[in-house]
Amino acid sequence: MKRNIMVTGGAGFIGSHLVRLLVNKYPDYRIINVDKLTYAGNLANLKDIEDRPNYIFFKGDICDYDSMYNLMVEYVIDGIIHLAAESHVDRSIKDPFTFARTNVMGTLSLLQAARVYWESLPEKYEGKRFYHISTDEVYGALELSHPEGVEPPFKTVASSGEHHLAYGTDFFYETTKYNPHSPYSASKASSDHFVRAYHDTYGMPTIVTNCSNNYGPYQFPEKLIPLFINNIRQRKPLPVYGKGENVRDWLYVVDHACAIDMIFHNGKIAETYNIGGFNEWKNIDIIKVLIKTVDRLLGNPEGYSLDLITYVTDRAGHDLRYAIDSTKLQKELGWEPSLQFEEGIEKTVRWYLDNQEWIDNIISGDYEKYYKDMYENR
Ligand code: NAD
Ligand code: DAU
Repeated sequence: MKRNIMVTGGAGFIGSHLVRLLVNKYPDYRIINVDKLTYAGNLANLKDIEDRPNYIFFKGDICDYDSMYNLMVEYVIDGIIHLAAESHVDRSIKDPFTFARTNVMGTLSLLQAARVYWESLPEKYEGKRFYHISTDEVYGALELSHPEGVEPPFKTVASSGEHHLAYGTDFFYETTKYNPHSPYSASKASSDHFVRAYHDTYGMPTIVTNCSNNYGPYQFPEKLIPLFINNIRQRKPLPVYGKGENVRDWLYVVDHACAIDMIFHNGKIAETYNIGGFNEWKNIDIIKVLIKTVDRLLGNPEGYSLDLITYVTDRAGHDLRYAIDSTKLQKELGWEPSLQFEEGIEKTVRWYLDNQEWIDNIISGDYEKYYKDMYENR
């Protein structure tokens, strides 16, 4: 095999898209997917590639140092793409310890296992790479600001010099100071610091990327887009936090997977790259697009599901606006998102409606109880 790549969290949402892309694109690579299969991990996400000769699944916990080390030795791992994490902000508010354990200690355990293994080899770190997948949430929150007399979203200039529709004049840059607010983002920020420390202290070839909100197939239905598509289908209330005015910057998940592939192969060691689509939306506007699309595809009259919108207590510490400036990635590596949002949302809604069994299998388990605690009793 030309390369032996460990992907952690490959049974989750983004991880499964990445594993599929790598397995299909690189038949001469061996892809070792390490996943604990928490509530968010689902092997059904990878049914189409599970029998491929260049794919191996290992059920394991990244916090288990010995097992991670042994796995790296057994499969002669030369690249690690680390996605395994607890990823849902609302859960982190209820149970921060699990986030510290997986996101901080788990990342540290992986880093240390890779360090001990790679430093034991004659060539040491040569040809090796530890790539950590992080989030824009580590940067904190941006303002909703706009020039006087101009209605948002308005055209503003990114560092590329190009104009983009935005809800504020500022963006998150690779140089933006970390300022996390939720236990989730604090745990991700901490893990990012550990990764960079392993480069600065031990010389490990690391890369960190910080991406904006992803959407697309196989996302666990606790996150805004799949949750709301499913609730519209089931005529359940749509719990909008606060006034629905928070802004997120949405990227189609396959575009994120393509960026990861590109950066893993061509990114510069010790660099940080921001990944985002310059695609900002207020939650309430996205919710209206979802309602319109689901109603149309289900044959309901326009506006039929608008009555499901239910304003609920806001998320504690709810970040107002995220907006990534991905100019560096576009200029240095030539990455561009492939899909326009309208096209991506249409594809996504169709996928969830066509794959109701996937979602029903999740909902029939523990998730139903969690949903009641989290949303219906809010
Ligand atoms: P997800 O919750 O869908 O998947 C996480 C996966 O990690 C699951 O398969 C789970 O079983 C696995 N996992 C959890 N704890 C583990 C452990 N201790 N050991 C091994 N495996 C474990 O998450 P996602 O949305 O696909 O996010 C993947 C990564 O990308 C995360 O690191 C997240 O912080 C980051 N990220 C996500 C987004 C987004 O919009 N979803 C955006 C930017 C960055
Ligand atoms: O920005 C990247 C991050 O995006 C990732 O790091 C996280 O892993 C991922 O979960 C996502 O975080 P968000 O908190 O932005 O995503 P979520 O889908 O939970 O919420 C999106 C917005 O919608 C947010 O402003 C909260 C709001 N919301 C969410 C839910 C689940 C609601 O109004 N109602 C809801 O029921």
